[in-house]
Amino acid sequence: MAVSLTSLLCLSTVFLSSNLVFASKDCKFPALFNFGASSSDTGGFAATFESPVPPYGETYFHMPAGRFSDGRLIVDFIAHSFGFPYLSAYLNSLRSNFSHGANFAVAGSTITPPNSIPPQGRYIPFYLDVQLWQFLHFKNQSQIVKKIGDVFADLMPEEEYFAKALYTFDIGQNDLGNRIFRNLSIEEVNASVPDIVDSFTTNVRNLYHSGGRSFWIHNTGPIGCLPYILVNYPVTEDEYDSAGCAKPYNEVAQYFNQKLKEAVAQLRQDHPSAAFTYVDVYSAKYSLYTNPTKYGFELPLVACCGYGGEYNFGVVLCGQTATVNGTQIFGGSCGNPSVTVNWDGVHYTEAANKFVFDHIATGAFSEPPVPLARACHRFPE
Ligand SMILES: *[C@@H]1O[C@H](CO)[C@@H](O)[C@H](O)[C@H]1NC(C)=O
Ligand SMILES: *[C@@H]1O[C@H](CO)[C@@H](O)[C@H](O)[C@H]1NC(C)=O
Ligand SMILES: *[C@@H]1O[C@H](CO)[C@@H](O)[C@H](O)[C@H]1NC(C)=O
Ligand SMILES: *[C@@H]1O[C@H](CO)[C@@H](O)[C@H](O)[C@H]1NC(C)=O
Ligand SMILES: *[C@@H]1O[C@H](CO)[C@@H](O)[C@H](O)[C@H]1NC(C)=O
Repeated sequence: MAVSLTSLLCLSTVFLSSNLVFASKDCKFPALFNFGASSSDTGGFAATFESPVPPYGETYFHMPAGRFSDGRLIVDFIAHSFGFPYLSAYLNSLRSNFSHGANFAVAGSTITPPNSIPPQGRYIPFYLDVQLWQFLHFKNQSQIVKKIGDVFADLMPEEEYFAKALYTFDIGQNDLGNRIFRNLSIEEVNASVPDIVDSFTTNVRNLYHSGGRSFWIHNTGPIGCLPYILVNYPVTEDEYDSAGCAKPYNEVAQYFNQKLKEAVAQLRQDHPSAAFTYVDVYSAKYSLYTNPTKYGFELPLVACCGYGGEYNFGVVLCGQTATVNGTQIFGGSCGNPSVTVNWDGVHYTEAANKFVFDHIATGAFSEPPVPLARACHRFPE
């Protein structure tokens, strides 16, 4: 009797603890679908317009790999953490493998429609609504491809992956940046934020209605710390913060983030069967400007690749050659991107991307504070 009582107790202990394990377990996402711009483009722009040239890609891929960095992006670290190969760009028809997801991000993309596109204009036609249309087309057609069952079938996700997948977003900086570059005043850019965020929310809602249930939404970074703003739109002396970033531009980004955070909270309230995680990438990135040495970085405001002035930006762009004062100058790499935050004046280095990934993956920058691997849950455990 005593023996069986003990084993009963043991059984119930096992049962209880396995329940606990169950409640806090990782989501085992079978696929990843990403939407965004250059910060998460793994080849869409390169397949459509032109490929980044050396030294882009020098650190990890040892050749340009369709990414606007010296190496991997946050989305690459996310895919890797799930045990997936790096995400193929939906627009890339060469050697793509979509069995664990697809990447709809294209460099330069905005949330709202661009007001001019190439060849006359300078913006990118793949704004968020278009990325959603492409996703819906992909979702439908991939299953037709699977049914045909030939060599292409294995390159497609399973039908049930769409409901269980993680949907990630990193978009919005170009909505602000393009307006700044059209010389809109800070107040005008700021005033456009609510419409931009509404348009974002509409797209996330459409994904929810198509069956998505887990959403991981990055906010936008401190745009006022980037050389492309600091060089082209210098502010008055009292408008730089102690890290040397331009405060007015960062304040617009903060307002965007405040509105985005409210919008994500509303989504969470409206759709209780889904998990919407807001991720404060801004704060993770900003700590690289306020405490660079603590994290092993130096001169965070200075671009590694390119040439010109105090931010090493603007005279010769990364990978370009130009004649400066009668001398041919190549906009090459600084040689130590592993201790540099900014790669080319606009984009982050692999080292900085890894830093941000390591910090956000824990859930320390999320609302609710769920880690990346558990982002199918609405509440932290
Ligand atoms: C596609 O990717 C999956 C997952 O990594 C892999 O198992 C499969 O072999 C790949 N297919 C091809 C044709 O490379
Ligand atoms: C998929 O596409 C086919 C052919 O265009 C269409 O008939 C069907 O309704 C679509 N299915 C879904 C789920 O959108
Ligand atoms: C913005 O202003 C700068 C400086 O005045 C000017 O060179 C540039 O052409 C303007 N850009 C646009 C899009 O109007
Ligand atoms: C942006 O607009 C909001 C709401 O009107 C305001 O609270 C905020 O101070 C503005 N920020 C800037 C930088 O103009
Ligand atoms: C070109 O030469 C002039 C005169 O020496 C100098 O002021 C300027 O900084 C130089 N420009 C660059 C981009 O090096």
